[in-house]
Amino acid sequence: MEITLATLPSYLRQRPEMTRIFEQGTTFRIEEIGDGNLNTVYRVSDAAHTECSIVLKHAPPYIKILGPDYPLSTDRLTFEARALELYDHFANGTVPAQYGFDPEAAVIAMEDLREAHVLRDDLINGTVDTAIAEQIGRFMGIAHSRTHINNVSSAIADHYKQQFANTTMQSITADYVFTFPFTEHETNFWTPGLEPEIQRLKADTDFLEQAEYLKQIFLTAQQGVTHGDLHTGSVLVQGNTAKVIDAEFAFYGPVGFDLGLYWANYLLSYFAHQDNPRTQSALKTAIEQTWQTYTTEFEMTDTELKAQTLENIFHEAIGFTGLEILRRLIGAAHVKDIENILDIPQKLRAENAALQLGTTLVKQHRYFSDIAVIIERL
Ligand SMILES: Nc1ncnc2c1ncn2[C@@H]1O[C@H](COP(=O)(O)OP(=O)(O)OP(=O)(O)O)[C@@H](O)[C@H]1O
Ligand SMILES: [Mg+2]
Repeated sequence: MEITLATLPSYLRQRPEMTRIFEQGTTFRIEEIGDGNLNTVYRVSDAAHTECSIVLKHAPPYIKILGPDYPLSTDRLTFEARALELYDHFANGTVPAQYGFDPEAAVIAMEDLREAHVLRDDLINGTVDTAIAEQIGRFMGIAHSRTHINNVSSAIADHYKQQFANTTMQSITADYVFTFPFTEHETNFWTPGLEPEIQRLKADTDFLEQAEYLKQIFLTAQQGVTHGDLHTGSVLVQGNTAKVIDAEFAFYGPVGFDLGLYWANYLLSYFAHQDNPRTQSALKTAIEQTWQTYTTEFEMTDTELKAQTLENIFHEAIGFTGLEILRRLIGAAHVKDIENILDIPQKLRAENAALQLGTTLVKQHRYFSDIAVIIERL
């Protein structure tokens, strides 16, 4: 059955486990709430008590905003469902509760975080809650350390590798983060005044070599269960609690990729707030705190390789941070934090500063000893 607004009520009537929070015979009110590119997200409420609701995420067999001519495997939702289960197991309460998963129709039913808003919007408004960054650091630290190749038996590592062999989504990221932005590609765009800097970047062989090196790490390193899309749009904030969503890119890979995306999006927000030193200072503290709580989780594991493991994660994370910053200035998907700046000279100042830092982080990712050193340079 094709999942649409029209077919959903009868679909749900056949799925009692997904709708168990509702009383029997409830009349559903269904609305589309998602603003994403790939999937459809619905809110299903009890028409008589709209405060009683669930969220359904559905993956059509193509890229939602492009339509059926752009096929994409619905397996992405299987990986998301598996990741939700794993996160709930190791870090209960950090993701929405999952009520049911139907791999055939590619539907996840989950807890509706009705009161929540997207972290990116908080940062844009200058609301920077360090506690949220600490929670995300802890979330990453738990998920990464508990599944890390150095901390689990080879049988368990093999199980994770098999369960999270999400190669289709991994190769999309490889293209859009590591390759397209630094070549001539039709999806690239940038603020015209940035042109000379971008041409310089594309001709910088040292940069291109490091970008390629990091791409190979991204494609081949098998370290732990990595969310794969943990930017500030994948965190919902409800009161002072952070919940992580949108794990369809989850894979067994280089865990520093999550830190990199998360840090890069805080840094992009930092550059966007150039006239607001208080917000900038809070963003810097948040970045440092993420690493604090992250490493604390690793300290709790008893591997002898701890220090070396963390150092390696850190260096790769810094390289990924740089690439994520750059692709958000040049590639297909920019961030609202910067795109919202309507004054072009002001926008260019933010973008130029971000571009400089991004380039340095990629080229020198192996030479930074600590996050504090990077924060001090800002
Ligand atoms: N459990 C939930 N509770 C409340 N709102 C949610 C929930 N899950 C998703 N949403 C809303 O739907 C939006 C899109 O969700 P999600 O990012 O999972 O979809 P997506 O199609 O994979 O998006 P993208 O194209 O960005 O990858 C979220 O930004 C959020 O506003
Ligand atoms: Mg998504």
